[in-house]
Amino acid sequence: MNIKSVLFYLVSLSMIFSCSEQKQSSASYSKKDSINKKVDSLLELMTLEEKVGQMNQYNGFWDVTGPGPTDGNAKLKYDHLKNGLVGSMLSVRGAKEVRAVQKIAVEETRLGIPLIIGFDVIHGYKTLSPIPLAEAASWDLEAIKKSAEVAASEAAASGINWTFGPMVDISRDPRWGRVMEGGGEDPYLGSAIAKARVTGFQGDDLSSPSTIAACAKHFAGYGFSEAGKEYNTVDIGTSTLYNIVLPPFKAASDAGVKSMMNAFNDLNGVPATGNKFLLRDILKGKWNFNGFVVSDWASIKEMETWGYAKNKKDAAKFAVIAGSDLDMESSAYVTELKTLVEEGAVDESIVDDAVRRILTVKFELGLFDDPYRYCDEAREKAVINSKANHDAVLDMAKKSIVLLKNDNQLLPLEKNGQTIALIGALASEKNSPLGSWRIASDDNTAVSVLEGMQNYKGNTLVFKKGADVSIGKTIFTEEVKINTTDKSEFKSAINAAKKADKVVIVLGEHGFQSGEARSRTDIGLPGIQQELLEAVYAVNKNVVLVLNNGRPLIINWASKHIPAIVEAWQLGSQTGNAVAQVLYGDYNPSGKLPMTFPRNVGQIPIYYNYKNTGRPVNEQADNPDFVFWSHYSDVENTPLYPFGHGLSYTSFEYKNINLSKTVYDINENINISFKITNTGDFIGKEVTQLYIRDLHASITRPVKELKGFKLVELNIGESKSINFTLTKKELGFYNNQGEFIVEPGEFEVFIGGSSITSLKEKFELVSK
Ligand code: BGC
Repeated sequence: MNIKSVLFYLVSLSMIFSCSEQKQSSASYSKKDSINKKVDSLLELMTLEEKVGQMNQYNGFWDVTGPGPTDGNAKLKYDHLKNGLVGSMLSVRGAKEVRAVQKIAVEETRLGIPLIIGFDVIHGYKTLSPIPLAEAASWDLEAIKKSAEVAASEAAASGINWTFGPMVDISRDPRWGRVMEGGGEDPYLGSAIAKARVTGFQGDDLSSPSTIAACAKHFAGYGFSEAGKEYNTVDIGTSTLYNIVLPPFKAASDAGVKSMMNAFNDLNGVPATGNKFLLRDILKGKWNFNGFVVSDWASIKEMETWGYAKNKKDAAKFAVIAGSDLDMESSAYVTELKTLVEEGAVDESIVDDAVRRILTVKFELGLFDDPYRYCDEAREKAVINSKANHDAVLDMAKKSIVLLKNDNQLLPLEKNGQTIALIGALASEKNSPLGSWRIASDDNTAVSVLEGMQNYKGNTLVFKKGADVSIGKTIFTEEVKINTTDKSEFKSAINAAKKADKVVIVLGEHGFQSGEARSRTDIGLPGIQQELLEAVYAVNKNVVLVLNNGRPLIINWASKHIPAIVEAWQLGSQTGNAVAQVLYGDYNPSGKLPMTFPRNVGQIPIYYNYKNTGRPVNEQADNPDFVFWSHYSDVENTPLYPFGHGLSYTSFEYKNINLSKTVYDINENINISFKITNTGDFIGKEVTQLYIRDLHASITRPVKELKGFKLVELNIGESKSINFTLTKKELGFYNNQGEFIVEPGEFEVFIGGSSITSLKEKFELVSK
């Protein structure tokens, strides 16, 4: 620590204590008050330039443990860092590396303010859990929270104190590659997952060395990128914004998330980064969010490209006035903001507010107590890839698997005396199962399905690739190169299938085919995998298809012909063990789809909580020629697999839905009970789901809305009575003014094991 920063600490501490003595004893000061005081006193010491510096974030741009860069843009950024003009860095990682940059900030700048170090810890740091969409399929909030805790503990041991996660964008469009990063299509499930992830990353105490600040992103609307095309414009109505897009962000804010990230899209013609309505009116206004807002990568500068800001100066002005506090890689604040304030175009109080928010989080993280608290190489070694972390991600991986189909109980596989043909290049992949967004992880470190299956020694396992799926393997190249021609290995795979009792075929997307900038219009099985599947099925009908994918895929043929289909996403480090344990019945799957699987691309967007419309079904069903109803003439309205769908090796029976009465006062809670029985031959877990429909309202409401879910574990033959309670929170909705209201009227309530529910009741809300 330099002399100046020591002096600063003494000065600021004495200011705090003299102040506290005047008012009350220091002991009675809450942590929050004390941080506020420290931030205020620090702000008073800062020049305008230093304040602007806190609002500037740079990507790691040189080998931080070597000498600093000596020319070009890198040198400029390096000089900025040394001169206190950088408040945060991203993508620098490793205890040693972060210590090196932190040392510059703390020891070489006038005030010695530590950096906040951001990183995309999306589904793990080194030990990878399943991609977030897969985790969402578990509907297991405790497990999801635990997974974020594991990720935080590894990242925090490696110098990082802030993650750019969770992504809480709701999306109804599987063409959009980033659906793999989110919680799926539903705002209720998405909100619950947002809260679980935020509390998992941040814990109860942000200053603990194993927790990190979270960042809900991308605020807002990004999941509705038109036609699923990345970085596209967004055109959604007010009601969709309030009722579908914003709730998970609100849940994250209510859970105390320390930051939010702008979205790349525009909303009503205003880029989200410069969108005052989103940032000032809603986020920092109505919701009283007191964390800070970081731009997305260069999204301030990109307002020029959008044709919204004339130049970088305008872009900086629009962004800061709108409420974007930290500039990620636009260099717009650091070059323009001081002048904007000096010219009177931006009020300094706006800058103060932004800096206050950023400094507050730095204090909360404990960075002022010890700027190197996240840079402990011994802890880094002990925590990363620990057995406990691998056990946790294996547990999460098993919980994320969804059994889509299991005709004639083909699964689980018998453990002895069988010949199993394992087919598909993805089965031996150790890289692809790690999924996208895993910048810190080591390549080729996943347990492959082949390795997982090899642990079961009672059967004869014959592995044949059949066909390579892909060739390119880095996240930064344009697109994974897909094999569309080379069928030279088909023959040996078909021969193996012929001789086998059962075939397990692993097909789907390479891990880098989804994620940022990975929008696709054809979301069937890539390349020649469909042909391989059909060729294998032609010689052996006992086929188990294991899917690897970062988005819902269109798999009509497989769904019709293949008897067993296991949705195994990209499950992270422990992929192969999780898949094998499920295939062999050592783990009974209980996952449920967090996103609808369409029948074809033309149905997109397709989602379970659609509106009834004025012409919902063919009411003239006795007249097959009647066409004037809401439908397609070439495909049915239903999806291939609905939201909430997922089977188990056992079966469950739902009955006896019961409401204590049928008419309720609008302020009353509504208790609903039902009975569930395990009617099959395995112990099993079921995600029981509750949906409602508000039959008549001042704005049209969906035909079904998820409003509750519970995981229930049942022994063979066991029954349980399950209760749900609906409160105002579940019964209301946002009107077009953004007010949350509950209206009297009739409701339907549905219970079941998917959005295609089995039980139904009615009740009425009255206001006296
Ligand atoms: C992504 C963000 C990410 C950022 C930093 C951007 O391209 O949209 O989600 O956090 O890069 O890596």
